[in-house]
Amino acid sequence: MNRSARVSGTFTFKIMRESDFDRQKLIDNLSRPEEDLEKMADLARKRVCGPDVIIRGIINFSSYCCRGCLYCGLRQTNNLKRYRLNKAQVLNTVGKIVRAGISTVVLQSGDDLECGGQELCGMVETIKSFFPDIAVTLSLGERSKTDYKALRACGADRYLLKFETMNPRLYRYLHPGRDLDGRLRHLRLLRELGFQVGTGNMTGLPGQTVEDLADDLLFLQEFAPEMTAIGPFIPQPDTPLKDSCCGSLKTTLTMISLARLLVPFSHIPATTALASLNQDGQRLALMAGANVIMPDFTPIAYSSEYKIYPKTSTIDLAVALKTIQAAGRVPGYGRGDAITSSIAHKLIATIFRF
Ligand code: 5AD
Repeated sequence: MNRSARVSGTFTFKIMRESDFDRQKLIDNLSRPEEDLEKMADLARKRVCGPDVIIRGIINFSSYCCRGCLYCGLRQTNNLKRYRLNKAQVLNTVGKIVRAGISTVVLQSGDDLECGGQELCGMVETIKSFFPDIAVTLSLGERSKTDYKALRACGADRYLLKFETMNPRLYRYLHPGRDLDGRLRHLRLLRELGFQVGTGNMTGLPGQTVEDLADDLLFLQEFAPEMTAIGPFIPQPDTPLKDSCCGSLKTTLTMISLARLLVPFSHIPATTALASLNQDGQRLALMAGANVIMPDFTPIAYSSEYKIYPKTSTIDLAVALKTIQAAGRVPGYGRGDAITSSIAHKLIATIFRF
């Protein structure tokens, strides 16, 4: 047994034992990460998820949005060429994802409330009727309870809704007319309705502190989402935050590692925003606790119009596969459903027996 594994075991043991996890220790790690933190998270990832990097195909099917989030290029008042794919275009793209061997489709859009619940249900039903074994993840922003219920009833498996920041004041500043309590109500509702729920934050938001990031992690530990998406903030030139600084690569990787240790069974993507921040960002995330990658399958005519933040390159399937290989891992083509916490804790427990 090599030394670093033993060190990892000891540290993980400490983390898993302290039910009242020390906020100060998170803050310390975010300010100055323990030397072996990424290695420990990688070890936990290996025990819980194995070598597979699960691939999920994203379709950004609508760039319409009714919100005014200060960081996002899709904000309603931005003058963009907006698009919304029709059902046939979505189905055709899902076909491409399925033919590539991938078993999860992520349907993502702005908060496009003009695209009604019925229309969305029609999309999900059609996908499920053609491809019954494919998991459907929705990432549509905040919608009505009626819509969530209907979408779940017609077979949507998962819902992704990031809380972005657990600082209520920062949340209100960034999301005019919305508040954090409302966001958290949506997350709890999604879980109650039986969705596998994904959530997460952005790191490096203007005015965000390490204390805020520690609170993000404590929320993740408490809520224990089935998926945890952590990405750096990247200033978008057409937004009020255009002159702010980018989130840091190092802090984002530290957040990913801490999330892996606090919520070991969660699926954690190497986010696309990391790739925009740094050419090697996604590979580094895969080495620091992440186990998912989500290549973009949006038809090329539209993909460059989905301008949430500036993208240096598109992460298509070929790029994702190269990153997986460069990280010394293997592509996972399964559905990648939620790993139950009891299994994960049993697996993690074996780390203690070094
Ligand atoms: N930088 C990084 N991530 C962003 N998002 C939106 N705008 C930005 C940005 N400027 C992320 C948010 C949101 C998701 C749709 O994209 O986390 O939830």
